[in-house]
Amino acid sequence: MKIAIPKERREHERRVAVSPDTVKKYVSLGFDVTVETGAGDGASIPDNEFADAGAAIAGDEAATLGDADIVLKVQRPICASEDGPDEIALMKKGAILIGHLGALQHRDQIAAYEKAGITAFAMELVPRITRAQAMDVLSSQSNIAGYKAVLDGAHEFGRAFPMMMTAAGTIRPARVIVLGAGVAGLQAIATARRLGAIVTGYDVRPAVKEQVESLGAKFLEVDSAATEGAETSGGYAKEMGEEYRRKQEEALREAMKKQDVAICTALIPGRPAPVLISEDMVKEMRPGSVIVDLAVEQGGNCPLSEFGKVVTRHGVHIVGHANVPSRLAEDASAMYARNLLNFVTPLVDSETKSIKIDWEDEIIMGSLVTRDGKSVHPSLAANGNGANSANGASDSSGAASGTLPGPSDDADTAGEARQ
Ligand code: NAI
Repeated sequence: MKIAIPKERREHERRVAVSPDTVKKYVSLGFDVTVETGAGDGASIPDNEFADAGAAIAGDEAATLGDADIVLKVQRPICASEDGPDEIALMKKGAILIGHLGALQHRDQIAAYEKAGITAFAMELVPRITRAQAMDVLSSQSNIAGYKAVLDGAHEFGRAFPMMMTAAGTIRPARVIVLGAGVAGLQAIATARRLGAIVTGYDVRPAVKEQVESLGAKFLEVDSAATEGAETSGGYAKEMGEEYRRKQEEALREAMKKQDVAICTALIPGRPAPVLISEDMVKEMRPGSVIVDLAVEQGGNCPLSEFGKVVTRHGVHIVGHANVPSRLAEDASAMYARNLLNFVTPLVDSETKSIKIDWEDEIIMGSLVTRDGKSVHPSLAANGNGANSANGASDSSGAASGTLPGPSDDADTAGEARQ
């Protein structure tokens, strides 16, 4: 069994799909591991660390992928219709590809897997069931993104976060609001609190209030009665009606005037990100305030945010960094690599040291996109348009990344299976 890890070639991507620690584990599972030279550069892992862990280092991508049975990727491979090397053509027929493929957003790419006879697993489609928690790349990368978003906000902010009482005077603590309190948002709240800010959290799902408060933040109430049905059975948000949106706008408008930093993480599976901070609200914010929009790849929670840029509008700094998890590439890679190891381990028969997949397993069925070159995922059979990222951005497996299913997907199902 050969497992291969090429260098990631998409823009803004510094992560790598394997760590020295997981190389060792793959070797003990019976794999020959090949890592492309320089694959770990962006995450500060030199070739020799992979080699010491037991990997062979290949000089280029063709030599890495050529005879691999399993190919591990962070982002979807580059295919013939894109600029850059055709990475799919380098894989052998029958190879198993595993990565954050953005499968439902990039349906055009499925045809390339079919043509190449590849069996592809999309990690973003792994069902969010208890047994699969250790494989949940969306959670691991959102967690990193939520933390980094606060640091990015602090970096742009011209003042300190904590209260400081000094002989030269007292600095008042910063006020931070976190919009959307899922995985990224809760980590952002915890991080901003650790930095000493006064934090408010807001989410449409009422269940979140307790979690926000347990982190020492205030919860912004909009209309608790109206939010009773705001959560799908899978724990995701639903798109809210016009009446609620009006009340939400009123409440946020008042709240935003008092905030120094807003961290935006609100997403709805299958829909563009909800607009929570309008241009009028930005105008009313204090000059020097900061908005960090983690939802920018899905259109943004603020319409003024721009993908991959930090812009200043009406005196407010608006941060729309691309691929936020990749900005903390070492930890993001280590966690992602662990998620993949936890996914791959059950695919191996430990006695025969061969790949043996239980095709009826819920996790396999949920994440399998193509099998032996045939498209098999039920969501791909639907007549969706694939809904590419709202800004045409690449997927980054992060808080605001790759969670857009096709429009035909039911929100409840999406919640269960993260489709
Ligand atoms: P997400 O990335 O889809 O959305 C982020 C947050 O935005 C959510 O909390 C959502 O309620 C909120 N949101 C959407 N529209 C909004 C609006 N208009 N205003 C304010 N907030 C809005 O969600 P994420 O972070 O991936 O997780 C969502 C849920 O999934 C959580 O309940 C979490 O507990 C659950 N989950 C379950 C896991 C498991 O069982 N294995 C693993 C991870 C998360």
